[in-house]
Amino acid sequence: MTSRIVAVLNQKGGVGKTTTTVNLAHALARMGKKITVIDFDPQSHLAVALGVVSKQQTGIDEIMLGQATFSQQQIPVRENLNLIVAGPRLQEIEQLCEGGSHRGDLLRKALASGTNERDLIFIDCPPSSGILVANALFAVEELLVPMTSDYLALQGLSHLMGTIKKFETVLNKKFRLKLVMSRYIPTRRLSKDVVSTLKKYFPNQILATPIRETASLAECPSFGKTVFEYRPGWRSAKDFEALAGDFLESRVM
Ligand SMILES: Nc1ncnc2c1ncn2[C@@H]1O[C@H](COP(=O)(O)OP(=O)(O)O)[C@@H](O)[C@H]1O
Ligand SMILES: [Mg+2]
Repeated sequence: MTSRIVAVLNQKGGVGKTTTTVNLAHALARMGKKITVIDFDPQSHLAVALGVVSKQQTGIDEIMLGQATFSQQQIPVRENLNLIVAGPRLQEIEQLCEGGSHRGDLLRKALASGTNERDLIFIDCPPSSGILVANALFAVEELLVPMTSDYLALQGLSHLMGTIKKFETVLNKKFRLKLVMSRYIPTRRLSKDVVSTLKKYFPNQILATPIRETASLAECPSFGKTVFEYRPGWRSAKDFEALAGDFLESRVM
């Protein structure tokens, strides 16, 4: 069995990529799936959100540089949930990469072996459309795009879709794409308007459960806890449990 490798992607910052990665991954791990999350943002927010703060630890950086293997770099952080940190040299890779087109292929090669023992691998992408994101697009067949429901998010999405289409043409592949509504405010009319617009452009591609905006989700990272630890049974935990089911069964709006 080969593992599903999913890039959590949106070039816009603050849309909920890291929040989605942490809590969806933990929800799936709690269901018994073997999950690895990769912190692919040099800012290391994913590691912090999971309570791992060591700056010195190497991670995906050394796998990409051929100095460590996927299996070696995994840190067990919860039951069934492993983390691969960004590592201090990920930023360097981003800069080093300018110019050399083969550099786009480092992540795909890094994930070519050792990944089979995991059911699912999530890559928490940085908020950019630089070489790291290119590496993610080279490496995966599947994309999960967190989306806020405001007007500028719609604008940003059309830019992202342009990038994705370009890669599909160049790499001669078709991504499996799903959107997740994140930071959703159900009482806002604009939220509903944005969702209905999105449904027209992405039929059967928006996961059924929107993740609501809540104070507890904003508070979680400062405690290094997932929502299942910080507010078990609370509505955000329920949102992510439902989303995990949507994800596994491809339930859409
Ligand atoms: N559903 C939500 N409700 C409340 N706060 C949220 C929610 N999703 C994300 N946030 C907060 O918004 C900020 C940006 O989210 P984050 O997941 O880090 O976005 P990204 O990884 O796309 O930059 C963080 O402070 C996070 O805690
Ligand atoms: Mg992030």
